[in-house]
Amino acid sequence: MAKLGKCSVFVVVAAVVLMLVGPCSAAAGEEMQTFDRKFISWDDARLDAYSHSFDFDNGTEQQQQQGEARPSYGEEYYRGSRVIVVDQNGGGDSVTVQGAVDLVPEFNTQRVKIHILPGIYREKVVVPVTKPYISLIGDEGNMSNTVITWHNRASDLDSKGMELGTFSTASVSVYSDFFCATGITFENTVVAVPGDYGNQAVALRISGDKAFFYKVKIIGSQDTLLDDAGSHYYYQCHILGSIDFIFGRGRTLFRDCVVESRAKHGHGGAIAAHHRDAAEEDSGFSFVGCLIKGTGKILLGRAWGNYSRVIYSYCNIQDMITPEGWGDFNQPSRRQTAVFGEYRCMGRGADTSRRVPWSKTRLNFQQVKPFLDLRFIDGHQWLRL
Ligand SMILES: *[C@@H]1O[C@H](CO)[C@@H](O)[C@H](O)[C@H]1NC(C)=O
Ligand SMILES: *[C@@H]1O[C@H](CO)[C@@H](O)[C@H](O)[C@H]1NC(C)=O
Ligand SMILES: *[C@@H]1O[C@H](CO)[C@@H](O)[C@H](O)[C@H]1NC(C)=O
Repeated sequence: MAKLGKCSVFVVVAAVVLMLVGPCSAAAGEEMQTFDRKFISWDDARLDAYSHSFDFDNGTEQQQQQGEARPSYGEEYYRGSRVIVVDQNGGGDSVTVQGAVDLVPEFNTQRVKIHILPGIYREKVVVPVTKPYISLIGDEGNMSNTVITWHNRASDLDSKGMELGTFSTASVSVYSDFFCATGITFENTVVAVPGDYGNQAVALRISGDKAFFYKVKIIGSQDTLLDDAGSHYYYQCHILGSIDFIFGRGRTLFRDCVVESRAKHGHGGAIAAHHRDAAEEDSGFSFVGCLIKGTGKILLGRAWGNYSRVIYSYCNIQDMITPEGWGDFNQPSRRQTAVFGEYRCMGRGADTSRRVPWSKTRLNFQQVKPFLDLRFIDGHQWLRL
């Protein structure tokens, strides 16, 4: 009986394995050239899937070296992805970044890597919604070597004489899904003067869903990073600005990033101005393990939208934060509904004793847990890092 049992278990298991594996491997040959990858991996952030570069940033190296072996998904995964080279000296496929984006066929189903050789690219770039799976890859070893820069401000006029408005100022705008960028600086060179009109100037706008930024620098002044919509992951990035310089409706995790304020005294602005309209929306900005530094004073966040949600956990916050910490954007009713929290931060700016009483300065672990890792952005579904 026992013997038979074992045997039939084996048969059943084998049958199940065949059922599971059979159709997949049959389909694989066919689909290999056109499959849609519904995730982003390290291979998408690198040029050569087989030459691994273990170049970790200084500062948090311990954790990363333990945690990340950076698996390669191998030839099958990589096959079909295309590399377009941008060289402003004429040695590549395009001399501009936009020219390379224009070379990508619409409704592409495979990753296209745009390798941007070192240089300062003075242009405005748009990645349209019809071109998913694009990687912009510069120099992972030094993100300052490859710069895309422009200088539109909100009060600039378009060809019809209308003001551009903040959202249209972005030096680089990404509307497509599964976007990835590494080793690049995105810059808007407009400098906001406090009290002046129309100085909002976005360096990077990301409106597509499921985007991964690794070792990317985003430089601006007022409204630097428009994290507009979708789920996004910024890992070891450097973001600089002076007023509300991370803003939008994104559901976004910033991990091990440097967030650097260039605020002058008295701006009254914030680092993060997150926009959320209802308690059911799953969006928010979560900063985990980040270094928050620079000049001030500046708020950690202010409520753009009734249910704005911003949380800092395990961050090193230096002494440039307005002691009150958080603002209601002159809408006192938002104090009831905004979710502004801090958990186990350190540094002189992390002193919560003078915070506005309505902020959640003392979140407990259960409350903060959903925001601490990739689960916050459903990363298990679309990131394999
Ligand atoms: C990291 O940076 C610190 C100073 O910023 C320096 O003293 C240290 O040697 C660096 N470590 C490595 C491994 O480069
Ligand atoms: C990074 O690149 C910039 C611009 O090319 C250069 O000025 C800087 O010295 C580089 N940094 C390192 C650490 O190589
Ligand atoms: C925000 O809250 C105010 C006050 O309760 C309300 O009047 C307004 O309609 C709300 N805005 C949105 C977009 O729900």
